[in-house]
Amino acid sequence: MLEHFDPAQEKDLGTPAVISDTLVELAIDGIPVQVPEGTSVLRAAALAGITIPKLCASDNLDAFGSCRLCAVQVEGRRGYPASCTTPAEDGMQVTTQNSKLAKLRRNIMELYISDHPLDCLTCPSNGDCELQDMAGAVGLREVRYGFDGHNHLDAEKDLSNPYFSFDPAKCIVCSRCVRACEEVQGTFALNVNGRGFDSKITAGNRDFMASDCVSCGACVQSCPTSTLMENSVIEQGQPERSVVTTCAYCGVGCSFKAELKGDQLVRMVPYKGGEANHGHGCVKGRFAFGYATHKDRIRTPMIRDSLDEPWREVSWEQAIEHTAARFKAIQAEHGRNSVSGITSSRCTNEETYLVQKLIRAAFGNNNTDTCARVCHSPTGYGLKQTLGESAGTQTFDSAMDADVIMVIGANPTDAHPVFGSVLRRRLRQGAKLIVADPRKIDLLKTASLGESQHLPLLPGTNVALINALAHVVISEGLEDQDFIAKRCDDEQYQQWREFILDEQNSPERMAAVTGLSAEAIRQAARTYANADNSAIFYGLGVTEHSQGSTMVMGIANLAMATGNIGRSGVGVNPLRGQNNVQGSCDMGSFPHELPGYQPVGDDQIRARFEQSWGVSLDPEPGMRIPNMFNAALEGSLKGMYVQGEDLAQSDPNTQHVEAALKALDFLVVQDIFLNETAKFAHVLLPGASFLEKDGTFTNAERRINRVRKVMPPLAGKADWEVTMDLSNALGYPMNYQHPSEIMDEIATLVPTFKGVSYDKLERLGSIQWPCNDENPDGMPIMHVEDFPIGKGRFVLTEFVPTTERCSRRFPLLLTTGRVLSQYNVGAQTRRTANQAWHDEDRLDIHPQDAEDRGINDGDWLGISSRAGDTVLRARISERMQPGVVYTTFHHPESGANVITTDNSDWATNCPEYKVTAVQVEKVSQPSRWQQEFRQLRERQSELLKRRKREPQQG
Ligand code: SF4
Ligand code: SF4
Ligand code: SF4
Ligand code: FES
Repeated sequence: MLEHFDPAQEKDLGTPAVISDTLVELAIDGIPVQVPEGTSVLRAAALAGITIPKLCASDNLDAFGSCRLCAVQVEGRRGYPASCTTPAEDGMQVTTQNSKLAKLRRNIMELYISDHPLDCLTCPSNGDCELQDMAGAVGLREVRYGFDGHNHLDAEKDLSNPYFSFDPAKCIVCSRCVRACEEVQGTFALNVNGRGFDSKITAGNRDFMASDCVSCGACVQSCPTSTLMENSVIEQGQPERSVVTTCAYCGVGCSFKAELKGDQLVRMVPYKGGEANHGHGCVKGRFAFGYATHKDRIRTPMIRDSLDEPWREVSWEQAIEHTAARFKAIQAEHGRNSVSGITSSRCTNEETYLVQKLIRAAFGNNNTDTCARVCHSPTGYGLKQTLGESAGTQTFDSAMDADVIMVIGANPTDAHPVFGSVLRRRLRQGAKLIVADPRKIDLLKTASLGESQHLPLLPGTNVALINALAHVVISEGLEDQDFIAKRCDDEQYQQWREFILDEQNSPERMAAVTGLSAEAIRQAARTYANADNSAIFYGLGVTEHSQGSTMVMGIANLAMATGNIGRSGVGVNPLRGQNNVQGSCDMGSFPHELPGYQPVGDDQIRARFEQSWGVSLDPEPGMRIPNMFNAALEGSLKGMYVQGEDLAQSDPNTQHVEAALKALDFLVVQDIFLNETAKFAHVLLPGASFLEKDGTFTNAERRINRVRKVMPPLAGKADWEVTMDLSNALGYPMNYQHPSEIMDEIATLVPTFKGVSYDKLERLGSIQWPCNDENPDGMPIMHVEDFPIGKGRFVLTEFVPTTERCSRRFPLLLTTGRVLSQYNVGAQTRRTANQAWHDEDRLDIHPQDAEDRGINDGDWLGISSRAGDTVLRARISERMQPGVVYTTFHHPESGANVITTDNSDWATNCPEYKVTAVQVEKVSQPSRWQQEFRQLRERQSELLKRRKREPQQG
């Protein structure tokens, strides 16, 4: 059984599709076939339903022509050309089957099999092996050469990677793995060493773990034998059925086939029909799914009266009743605004919608917020102000039409790896690269035909840079006057033009501020403005600043000024962090906006929701997360419901957050693990993993993808069911039988979702909103003809330096980020074998700064800021620039957010994670916070272990 499986998407047509307006017609085995010029004969045959045996070809790789199994006969030509490397031509007459071809193919297979272990029955690939299939297809019955000659059958296995094995005894040296690593992934970790019989595949003469391999799995997927094979398949056997669903890690939103044997998930295979990933994956989505069944999963609801008593396991009914009663009592005593809720960007659209609905309709206030507050809220604000819609403008595929790719404050190969591979592919084709980032990110190492330029600006100076780039564009006459005249508001443009031409924004003035040379800024501006298509991709290095919203608007200004909006290959593209952060914003998680970014203060809009929901709504915007913390400390906020978000680890100034959580009378946490926030909770409601529920996620391209239930919820309920139960217990009725009904309700209330339904998602696979009467199948590229606000708006973006500055006491600037193998607060990836790559957060420091302080690699360092201090081990790194240090925040005990301050974006309160002035010195023991953290962790784990079963009521 395969749920939502389109066989046409899965069939391997042998060579990649070719795009051409010219068609050629040929006859294959007498059947006339029309294909675009440049298509291979192998693909033309497959499209006509004719199967030609093949081994080294695959339709995601360029044809290589090494195995010769795909030989055909072409009338009027000598010999037997390989059909994978032979282009179809007009009038060509091709024969794919005759006795000579059959003999030729049998001979080839005989040679392969004579150097291959004959252990098919015990081989993990048995039943899913192209070599086995081809032996059958060519009718191989005997092997004349015997098996005792010189062979590779004793070659040693490489078991170094935790997720897959390499057994060279089974390798037929087809080089599909090597080409997959180069062409699909872009890592170039593998090569073929030696020639002829001695040729063999190596990972740079090292084992896989020691090599450049990033464990994406593309080679494993490409391998036609069991040479490269998932360990889970070796251990559990071949899967029997699949369910197509969406990865729950990053905002790329890759589609996967979850392959099962019985009820056991055996492997996740990237789905070729997935529009965001086209069959590629990364180490997280592909392999790191074991957390879903980890022993730490919370499987039973639990309650307790105070933080220092053991948990009591209760039934769902008891937990819901208790929770509703406590919230009601708090509101009765302290007023309607004394409770709040946090939606989860890891949950589905439907679940997020329900939580904000519960807060607005059942709590009766607008105290709802989400983790986007701490990541991309400036994107929502900035893009809405300038372009009129709070979302990225393009598809990922559009990057393949970009001539210049500008990456600002993002590290796509680590944080959005599958899209990072798309960028690498385009760079290999010759696109130019501009990276504005304090660190030398890996994308800069891409072997590229085009030029690349790194602008290692000082943290906190983005707006100075974007203004200087725009100054060059306008002062050198590089703007797109036609676009500006037709598409943008003239008055606002003229004001902006005058502002940007001011000498204060010149590269020469901004050089000292940014730490870049004026010439480098001028060169980047010219490269961006002079190309036919220039696209900007940006990440949290743009938004997590005191001027995050200003910078987003600065990016939009630059794109509009150069006409880089509204077609493939251009645009403004935020790379969203969490899997459904776009969706959680779309679904009304912010306190001032109902679903679809509709202002809660607008009487007409509110009236529509009131009518639909049958309740009157508060017209006043509610509290943002930082206000909630302050209100908890002041004593006006008493209760909080947090679904799938670890505030205690992910929000800045940890000590402040912990104090606020501790101050609450009643904290309800719904999560799959006892996370850091849950240590301050009074009710623990088990969450369901993405494998356990139905729904949709929306990725960074506004693409709504289906999430399908792969296994039943471990604790018996999906998250949307729990929210519904809680709402009913609070006295606000909710009654949905399936998430599709929630989506139907969303479609009636959110204009950009008007045409979305589960039926349509089944039919189209995915939909990019807006999906409405004008765009019934969605809109891949936005702002083609006009902006939702009519004319594009230029906004003045004055550079205001952050108050967080270096001083004698704190002479270095700390910036933070992610690594490929871990995800966000690490709750999922730390419970997988991904730990093998990154089992601690380290502090990266430039050799010069290290030498000045007598620091060696691996030394324990005390890092102090005006917010707090923590201790990490040093990693001396040339990637850093002097004066700037860097760390990740995947491990709670690192306390990276103990040092980040509560400075935030002026418009949205998004924290300024990317700039913290710090001092670094060698130390010999953990910080006080770390010591307290360990005590708290031990104490809370103990209380969890000592949990008791409460007698069932009723
Ligand atoms: S490892 Fe697999 S894909 Fe790579 S050359 Fe060997 S058989 Fe081909
Ligand atoms: S897992 Fe990915 S990166 Fe590693 S060798 Fe295979 S294709 Fe290359
Ligand atoms: S790129 Fe993102 S969505 Fe795709 S597999 Fe990796 S983590 Fe999942
Ligand atoms: S499939 Fe064509 S040469 Fe191997």
